[in-house]
Amino acid sequence: MIDKNSPLPIYTQIEDGIRSQIENGELKPHDAIPSEREYATQFQISRMTVRQAITNLVNEGLLYREKGRGTFVSEQKIEQQLVGLTSFTEDMKARGFTPSSRLLHFEIIPATAKIASQLSIQVHHPVYEITRIRLAHGIPMAIETVYMSANLIKGVTEAIIQQSLYDYVEQQSELKIGHATQTLEAIVATENETEHLQVAKGSPILLIQRYTYLEDGTPLEVVRSAYRADRYKFTVSMNRT
Ligand code: GLP
Repeated sequence: MIDKNSPLPIYTQIEDGIRSQIENGELKPHDAIPSEREYATQFQISRMTVRQAITNLVNEGLLYREKGRGTFVSEQKIEQQLVGLTSFTEDMKARGFTPSSRLLHFEIIPATAKIASQLSIQVHHPVYEITRIRLAHGIPMAIETVYMSANLIKGVTEAIIQQSLYDYVEQQSELKIGHATQTLEAIVATENETEHLQVAKGSPILLIQRYTYLEDGTPLEVVRSAYRADRYKFTVSMNRT
């Protein structure tokens, strides 16, 4: 792992070494890495140097520390391309994960002025307010709150939202989903999000807000999704035109 004659700093070489052990599967998620003392003895270097390398990898999210237990390899992040308008169920299935949802809240409420204007409906008209934890292989990935007009999409039940909402809109209601606009920003998890996403207090969250429209331009949904930043990353491909 270490070449003392290399122009690269020692801590960078250790970082690169651990990184490639993770990439080639020699170190797997939740494996413990050797202690600072072990690395220091093995490579005849100072513990400070080892600590710097490990801290950099912890800050990057590749490793995590547990007090009194040691340092471990993190789960790899799910990488999602920001192309195409897909549902959570489709996204997870495409990656070979089993999607599921835990329903936290389901109610028909009168639209507030804000929701009404976002959905282009009258104030106080009925809207579904749905909050679900979205899971992949049983692990919470996001909390999502959806608002949808109950006059537009009729007959949504708890059983339906345990499955796929987009599937219900397209298969049962026979409406065509057209396009969406989405914003993505970084926030700190609220206490509620911390609890439901099983992350530490103060963890970073990727907040996505989506406005989805039917093919004829009718607003379909307003959605706030809080994704775990330790499990998710988004990629965009860009053309210079
Ligand atoms: C994604 C989107 C939401 C959408 C949901 C539908 O998570 N961010 O805007 O409501 O997919 O997912 P499903 O069809 O699995 O219920």
